[in-house]
Amino acid sequence: MIKHDIVIVGGGLAGCRAALEIKRQDASLDVALIAKTHPIRSHSVAAQGGIAASLKNVDTEDSWEAHAFDTVKGSDYLADQDAVELLTKEAPDVIIDLEHLGVLFSRLPDGRIAQRPFGGHSYSRACYAADKTGHAILHELVNNLRHYGVHIYDEWYVLQLVLEEGEAKGIIVYQIRTGKLEAICAKAVLFATGGYGRVFNTTSNDYASTGDGLGMAAVAGIPLEDMEFVQFHPTGLYPVGVLVSEAVRGEGAYLINSQGERFMSHYAPSRMELAPRDITSRAIGLEIRAGRGINLDGSAGGSFVYLDVRHLGETQIKSRIPFAWEEAHRLLGIDAVTQPIPVRPTVHYCMGGIPVTTDGQVRQTADTLIERFFAAGECSCVSVHGANRLGSNSLLECVVYGRRVGLSIAQYVQGKDYPKVDLTHYLKQSENRLGALLQQKGTIRINVLRQAVQDCMSESCGVFRSESTLEAGLTQLQLLKEKYQELYLDDQGTCWNTELIEALEMQNILIVGEIILTSAIKRQESRGSHSREDYPLRNDPDFLKHTLAYYKNKSTNIDYMPVVINRFTPQERKY
Ligand code: FUM
Repeated sequence: MIKHDIVIVGGGLAGCRAALEIKRQDASLDVALIAKTHPIRSHSVAAQGGIAASLKNVDTEDSWEAHAFDTVKGSDYLADQDAVELLTKEAPDVIIDLEHLGVLFSRLPDGRIAQRPFGGHSYSRACYAADKTGHAILHELVNNLRHYGVHIYDEWYVLQLVLEEGEAKGIIVYQIRTGKLEAICAKAVLFATGGYGRVFNTTSNDYASTGDGLGMAAVAGIPLEDMEFVQFHPTGLYPVGVLVSEAVRGEGAYLINSQGERFMSHYAPSRMELAPRDITSRAIGLEIRAGRGINLDGSAGGSFVYLDVRHLGETQIKSRIPFAWEEAHRLLGIDAVTQPIPVRPTVHYCMGGIPVTTDGQVRQTADTLIERFFAAGECSCVSVHGANRLGSNSLLECVVYGRRVGLSIAQYVQGKDYPKVDLTHYLKQSENRLGALLQQKGTIRINVLRQAVQDCMSESCGVFRSESTLEAGLTQLQLLKEKYQELYLDDQGTCWNTELIEALEMQNILIVGEIILTSAIKRQESRGSHSREDYPLRNDPDFLKHTLAYYKNKSTNIDYMPVVINRFTPQERKY
């Protein structure tokens, strides 16, 4: 059995920032970071447009209070306002700290960090490194982890969180390169496992975003909070769905329908293309429904709208948003200097997650906590995004709450011993689980089942949903869950068995999908990204509360938890 003082699962921004903080607080702590890819290939590296903070480098009248208000309004008043206050107050400090670590932010002519406008923010407050911001930050953090001697286990896939008597006691891990199973015991476990974009068929997320941490937590009996709130980024490159950064609209791009009209004037006249994502995604959906989408060859892929940057000129395009230009060119052969870019909403972000306190400790219920277990980043729900996240607030959450959870874990483990646990029993269980999966004599290949599940989720739980689509989706998902027993794996090997990993990920995709659908059925209102056609209005008297979904094999039970409202009174949300 392997032992470390602290085990962090996930090598993205939140996990890396937490590891750094633990070491800064107490360099003698033995910290391990486990990641299913190399940390530099974590999905955080794909974050493009920026990280928000009221540095006031461009708009001197900005303030943390204004940032907090924008965030709460953007969340459709479901965010916990104490958590938002910490996020926005600590933002400038974490950015300066990143700069001191060596992050290469883009600059103003006078040398200060440049800031650009972003959707739903009233001031230019997104700090950026061209349109490769996640890349710039993650590389420096990973370099620093090496400097501090954090033990990195890359390409290790976590199979189970061991939770006994309300305490996290360790994890069971599969080494992808060798097929060997390991048990790891720790004084505290942190999940920073990212999101679940791959639960859907069109997403900006990478192949690894399969909701593993969420699935493992749910199986261990931990509730998942607000999972009905799935963020659709308005500008996924059509038809593949990869991200065309909001930075492109921050730099001044237009959204255009088939009639050449900047249609956002009908939906958010004061913000136009820089309205929050839920509103912009719905606007694109409504334009397409009204027959004002573009479908050049009548293809089955459906319609899209255009993102037009031609008026910005080549110099601005190639210096400020080079990645967006490259992507459209590489994937579609489009030269954005002279041609508009086809876009359509794509699944981008998970507002919900493992419920945590503002120190990152995981909740068992609204009022009780799990010992030795913490979560941060996209897999957690603290909840700073409520029903809709503002762009550039997720990198910020990873860094602010990564730092906070690192500090709180460093204090938590002082004087604590390892938990008492017999991990050999869990190791054996995992061995049997893998053995059974490899020996299944079914007829269905994993890619066929995965596609069916992803299609089911996208069809039933899209930008717009209703009781009938959600119920139909849940029924179909239950049938697909049965089909899991009919899988067969061609690859029986132990070295880099990606088919086996995909089959294990599929278990998490099924669990997360079921929780999303059940939570969405029960929330009979429209709020933020959860747009119910059968309940088109926000309903504060009945639903200004967080969902807590407890997964059971045959049914998911729903409970609720109050929202922290201590500063901004909920109002009608207009832009
Ligand atoms: O559009 C983007 O660059 C994404 C940013 C974000 O999700 O915060």
